[in-house]
Amino acid sequence: MSSERKVKVALIGAGGMANNVHYPSLVQFDDVELVGLCDLVEDKCAATADKFGIEKRYTDYREMLDEVEAEAVYILMPPHHLYDLVIDCLERKLHVFIEKPPGVTTHQITWMAKWAEKNEVLGMVGFNRRYIPLMRLCREKVLAHGGPMHQAVATFYKWMDEPMHPYYRGAIDILTSDCIHAVDTLRFMGGDVARVVGSVKPLGENYDMAFNALMEFEGGGTGVLLGNWRTGGRIHQFEMHSRAISAFVNPDFDASIHQDGNLFTERLDSKEVAGSDQLYKYYGFWHQSRHFIDCIKSGAEPETSFQSAIKTMQLVDQIYQNQL
Ligand SMILES: NC(=O)c1ccc[n+]([C@@H]2O[C@H](COP(=O)([O-])OP(=O)(O)OC[C@H]3O[C@@H](n4cnc5c(N)ncnc54)[C@H](O)[C@@H]3O)[C@@H](O)[C@H]2O)c1
Repeated sequence: MSSERKVKVALIGAGGMANNVHYPSLVQFDDVELVGLCDLVEDKCAATADKFGIEKRYTDYREMLDEVEAEAVYILMPPHHLYDLVIDCLERKLHVFIEKPPGVTTHQITWMAKWAEKNEVLGMVGFNRRYIPLMRLCREKVLAHGGPMHQAVATFYKWMDEPMHPYYRGAIDILTSDCIHAVDTLRFMGGDVARVVGSVKPLGENYDMAFNALMEFEGGGTGVLLGNWRTGGRIHQFEMHSRAISAFVNPDFDASIHQDGNLFTERLDSKEVAGSDQLYKYYGFWHQSRHFIDCIKSGAEPETSFQSAIKTMQLVDQIYQNQL
């Protein structure tokens, strides 16, 4: 898995995702060196740098990138702050990892992809559901037994009850910011999408709350998106169906596989499959970072590259545009 060469990574952002899932993953890789950390808030920067043993700390990312010798950078902050930092890093010929969503519009990720290509560096988006060990195992089993999926369902439900907008005071809509995880996972399960019809509703709020869609994959299968932020609570699960096999997957807990009409159901535990009860391991973050570092070393395009993320953002646009 790892060769002698160490990939030098600079880090921008000392917030929740950085501390809880991304940096805990990166510090475990023998072939990664964390060369510097930057956050606008000095105390947060110091606390995070102490936690992960990072010597060089900055409040200005340009100063950091002038001083440290980095090959790649993680930029972990809310989507409406991303764009200029991403382009600055790409222009410095650094490989860039960002969280989802990849900016606030399809236009932004399209231009991030253009700058990455121009500078011959890699861009990757943290659509981590694809890297969840249980999801990958179930997908492999379904494809191996039954061939391409003819039906896939992605469900993402939450309960949010805020009179003003719950996402960054309204800087971005819920579907693009968060429900996009389910949209991207539909592409992971069924492939690229040929056509889609959406049903988006505010459900009595002054912003959209329900995001349902029916789509046809280019391979002919059917995809269903069930998204709703006015339900009983967080439920995030997936269905994968092909000939004579079905997987029902809830990566927070487990999956069941139904095969050949048998009454026996195979059960798979998410933490057992990942070999860890740590969220960053069983929820795909560790594997996602491993993939990014491996791509940097091999020069391969990441599975969730900026180019791929354009398609996911376009699908979000189409759900809004092609309403029932
Ligand atoms: N994959 C997932 O399941 C998942 C879950 C939650 C959030 N996210 C995504 O993760 C991203 C980050 O969210 P978070 O909650 O960790 O953010 P956060 O607000 O906790 O942290 C962001 C940090 O960036 C710093 N920052 C902002 N601008 C900066 C700049 N110019 N230079 C240096 N530092 C700067 C802030 O001071 C802050 O400490 C968001 O895009 C969000 O959508 C993903």
